[in-house]
Amino acid sequence: MTESLKFLRADLAKLAAYKPHPGGASTQPLDLLDTNESPLDLPQELKVKLGNFYQHSLEANRYPDGGHTQLKSAIAEYVQESAELTDQITPNHISVGNGSDELIRSLLIATCLGGNGSILVAKPTFSMYAILAQTLGIPVQTIERQAHNFAIDVEQAQVAISNRSKETTPVRVVFVVHPNSPTGNCLTSAEIEWLKSLPKDILVVVDEAYFEFSKLSLVAEISQRPNWIILRTFSKAFRLAAHRVGYAIADPEVIQALEKVRLPYNLPAFSQNAALLALQNRQVLLPLVTETICQRDLMWQELSNEFASDLQLWRSQANFLYIRLAKAKDQDLELASLVTKLKNCGTLIRHTGGGIRITVGTEAENQRTINNLRACLLSIS
Ligand SMILES: Cc1ncc(COP(=O)(O)O)c(C=O)c1O
Repeated sequence: MTESLKFLRADLAKLAAYKPHPGGASTQPLDLLDTNESPLDLPQELKVKLGNFYQHSLEANRYPDGGHTQLKSAIAEYVQESAELTDQITPNHISVGNGSDELIRSLLIATCLGGNGSILVAKPTFSMYAILAQTLGIPVQTIERQAHNFAIDVEQAQVAISNRSKETTPVRVVFVVHPNSPTGNCLTSAEIEWLKSLPKDILVVVDEAYFEFSKLSLVAEISQRPNWIILRTFSKAFRLAAHRVGYAIADPEVIQALEKVRLPYNLPAFSQNAALLALQNRQVLLPLVTETICQRDLMWQELSNEFASDLQLWRSQANFLYIRLAKAKDQDLELASLVTKLKNCGTLIRHTGGGIRITVGTEAENQRTINNLRACLLSIS
């Protein structure tokens, strides 16, 4: 660090800024299959409604509703309906964030900041838990997953949780994803039982960013478990990644803690309205999920049939596939080369966690991905 920047925290020198989607900066048209967005934009009639809201109702000179009143009510109703819950989910069970990324940061601030605890993650998983923890100076404890199905190594996890040695900061938050990114697997019943067995002074975060694809949720646990929190997002199935809206579902006291640490006007009025409109029109938007699932399974089948000896593929319960090379001598090196080759052919995918993650796109995009993979794998072998 240069002499003149001594006011910066020394540990920041070790961190790299998050590398956003390079798609926009590319000189050639790319199929953007690296961030698990929906392949389809909002339908035109919803965009017109949103435009009308901006033109006729939104007062640009006024701050947005900092309490997200209407949106929280609509989310509570959606959560209740989609899980067919008997226990009432109310707006007091909901906190809304500028993407679920913001909620992850808020809950880290509310739990571990200032030497109060470390987080536990099982790799490979969503990278932002560790990235955000590190930016706040929060220690990250990492454990492994089973090689064949990516279930968490529960024994190793339990060792990390029980470690009370002076050198380690005790675990205060466990992050799990259901289904996991990048590997696409849902939590097994053994993993869920382990999470249920954790002491009440540990917060269990179940990230359900891909819930609409898996249709499996642990939201029914919220009424009995004040140390659990569920995260969801509008960035995937609801096609609103541009608007940055995520939400948390938890016991009202946990929600209150998140509300205390967030910025007062964290979500622009336009984004609040977009999420509200998406919920009101979920019968129009969510049917695409069925098509994506169908495309995902077709793609899995085609890749398994054609590249059985080249690729190792896993079943996915989300809107992406996770793949490794079957015969690589140096997996990461060879994958990096494959990803670059694919990008040069026009397919942008993500190299992460020792594998590649390919978002399921439209039928045409998926076909191009398969064709490009064929060409790139041929040039490798
Ligand atoms: C597991 C998981 N959680 C959270 C997010 C972030 O969602 P948001 O766009 O709401 O910040 C993602 C995005 O890819 C994700 O994969």
